[in-house]
Amino acid sequence: MFKVLVTDPISDFGLQQLIGAEDVALSQITGLCEEELISIISSYDALLVRSQTKVTRRVMEAGSRLKVIARAGVGVDNIDLEAATSRGIIVVNAPDGNTVTTCEHTFAMMMALARHIPQAYAKTIAGHWDRKSFLGVELRNKVLGVLGLGRIGIELSKRAAAFGMDIVGYDPYLSKERADKLGIKLLTMDEIIRTADFLSVHTPLTKETHHLIARPQFNVMKRGMRIVNCARGGIIDEVSLMEALDKGIVAGAAFDVFENEPPVAEHPFLKHPKIIVTPHLGASTLEAQENVALDVSEQVIHILRNEPFKNA
Ligand code: NAD
Ligand code: MLT
Repeated sequence: MFKVLVTDPISDFGLQQLIGAEDVALSQITGLCEEELISIISSYDALLVRSQTKVTRRVMEAGSRLKVIARAGVGVDNIDLEAATSRGIIVVNAPDGNTVTTCEHTFAMMMALARHIPQAYAKTIAGHWDRKSFLGVELRNKVLGVLGLGRIGIELSKRAAAFGMDIVGYDPYLSKERADKLGIKLLTMDEIIRTADFLSVHTPLTKETHHLIARPQFNVMKRGMRIVNCARGGIIDEVSLMEALDKGIVAGAAFDVFENEPPVAEHPFLKHPKIIVTPHLGASTLEAQENVALDVSEQVIHILRNEPFKNA
């Protein structure tokens, strides 16, 4: 029997393939701290996670039977890839199961930001009929800067074009031909930062993209721009963003992700009138959660059985 451990909430429907497999024993134990995970991991052949579980080198050292770690989602920044490689543990993810869902969340955040919807909602249900404080802006004719034109960045660009936005973007791996076909004007990072009315980041979090947007970038931005992060906390420097809001450079920010999740109660984003937040909900739809769970379950079964699998 292969023993598979699931440590984050993952769609039951998507896990059906593992649950129904005769050669698999599945355990679902969520909310474990690192020490608790270390104390049980030695009996498992596979570990399935979302973003909450941090799969550290110590976890892998304790996981003497571990053959595969599967991430039911895109970002693998919560898994120590170097440690996995050095121990011969296969890491797989679900690269496209939540693309549209996350793009739609990003678009919803951008619209909510433009029209102050969360702030207006909070005030209205508190009993205030305030029609003066929430003057918004249109998306039409605004420049949307997209940093990272992979799956989500491209889907966002398509939808933004339908709203009459001008899309400028940067991605070292996107060819000019493809960008032209998509109606995206490729510019340098610096040019984008200086011209965008709305800026949305869609890169992975890596050493290169950590604080990709920080004080030097904020200082040259268009006054009154708006910024969105539905990718990963840490791509935009949170401290510099607060400064840029105070200086009036940034008119508003929408964040689904934080440098440390969950953020502490005193986190300045949670009280700032110009920042709207959601608790890492980008991928949280029924459809996306089923897609990613189905995708990784299938890969895990193949790997455990030594069958060919598509590695992301
Ligand atoms: P993807 O791999 O398809 O695209 C990422 C793109 O970023 C690639 O095209 C890559 O070339 C580009 N890139 C890498 N470094 C760059 C840099 N320095 N500058 C500009 N571009 C760079 O990934 P995706 O599916 O589009 O996901 C993008 C991000 O969204 C990831 O960080 C992922 O973890 C995150 N995400 C968040 C949620 C959520 O719940 N909020 C859900 C899904 C994905
Ligand atoms: C991802 O990288 O896919 C996201 O973090 C989605 C998630 O698992 O919540």
